[in-house]
Amino acid sequence: WSSVRRPRSAESRQIAQTAGQIRASTFKVAILGAAGGIGQPPSLLIKMSPLISGLHLYDIANVKGVAADLSHCNTPAQILDFTGPAELANSLKGVDVVVIPAGVPRKPGMTRDDLFNINAGIVRTLVEAVADNCPNAFIQIISNPVNSTVPIASEVLKQKGVYDPKKLFGVTTLDVVRANTFVAQKKNLRLIDVDVPVVGGHAGITILPLLSKTKPSVTFTQQEIEELTVRIQNAGTEVVEAKAGAGSATLSMAYAAARFVESSLRALDGDSDVYECSYIQSELTELPFFASKIKLGKQGVEAVIGSDLEGLTEYEQKSLEALKPELKASIEKGIAFANK
Ligand code: NAD
Ligand code: LMR
Repeated sequence: WSSVRRPRSAESRQIAQTAGQIRASTFKVAILGAAGGIGQPPSLLIKMSPLISGLHLYDIANVKGVAADLSHCNTPAQILDFTGPAELANSLKGVDVVVIPAGVPRKPGMTRDDLFNINAGIVRTLVEAVADNCPNAFIQIISNPVNSTVPIASEVLKQKGVYDPKKLFGVTTLDVVRANTFVAQKKNLRLIDVDVPVVGGHAGITILPLLSKTKPSVTFTQQEIEELTVRIQNAGTEVVEAKAGAGSATLSMAYAAARFVESSLRALDGDSDVYECSYIQSELTELPFFASKIKLGKQGVEAVIGSDLEGLTEYEQKSLEALKPELKASIEKGIAFANK
């Protein structure tokens, strides 16, 4: 969390002061699927942000109690609740950032792709409403399979004539959070210093941590690299199995989602020093969607940081080539679904 709340860079603080831009917190965030395992804890963390004035909680059920509970926290954001399709449009009016964790989670033995049949339709319906009510918002997709739900969202937005690829994000922050944690543990580093870029997608071998690009620079044995890579790729499954049928990661995901939202709000607020990894429309590889480090700005993706893909080790290069067929198939599945 401390890395989320890091102070503005001296440069951006200077710009804000020079321009006399001392602004009140006016950003509004909507969470679609807010009563769920993921929806509730990030709502709490996001309610703590000094950058927001309103938090809109939408779900098909059980959202009133969550909203009543959260609204008693003495932080500035006003909580509004919205239940069911009839209230979906109003939940989105005037919103700057939309977070979508709606949908079913995995049970042991399932892949993320096994969630496609239920979650694809949920994401399509919700993104249609986003397109109609807040087409300029940053849209952050958490619902799995992210490798397919983000392409679905892009097609829906295109069909509605409001697609801005710079504002559509698949949330892969949890992969970075896990990579940072596992590397710091393994190499006995201070967690706050560690940054591992994770590229590709968000499922199994499509999750590719670039350990050779770890900051600060660290030396790994080949065995450490292979063990860490596999652990990061299977970390979601590790949680699904530990929860034994009671769902997938919610608390670490809430932390990761809150970090990505806070980064987006800082960027919207004019901070010129905001970098995250995210799954976006991309020209970095031959695949139309790809997760990589990006620079966030007021208009969304301000730059794609391609340098992480330069000078890869042989293991990383091979892993990159190996993930492409699976990621391509997931992207095509999403696009076909949205256009059928
Ligand atoms: P959950 O079942 O606890 O909650 C899902 C919520 O979505 C429920 O409250 C449900 O009422 C709501 N919902 C269902 N249909 C809806 C609709 N049409 N409109 C609005 N809300 C609707 O599940 P969860 O643990 O919160 O997981 C949600 C999703 O997030 C899953 O698909 C899971 O795989 C995914 N996930 C992604 C990541 C990631 O890193 N991107 C991490 C963890 C989980
Ligand atoms: C995760 O990485 O924890 C999520 O994608 C949930 C899952 O199904 O593993």
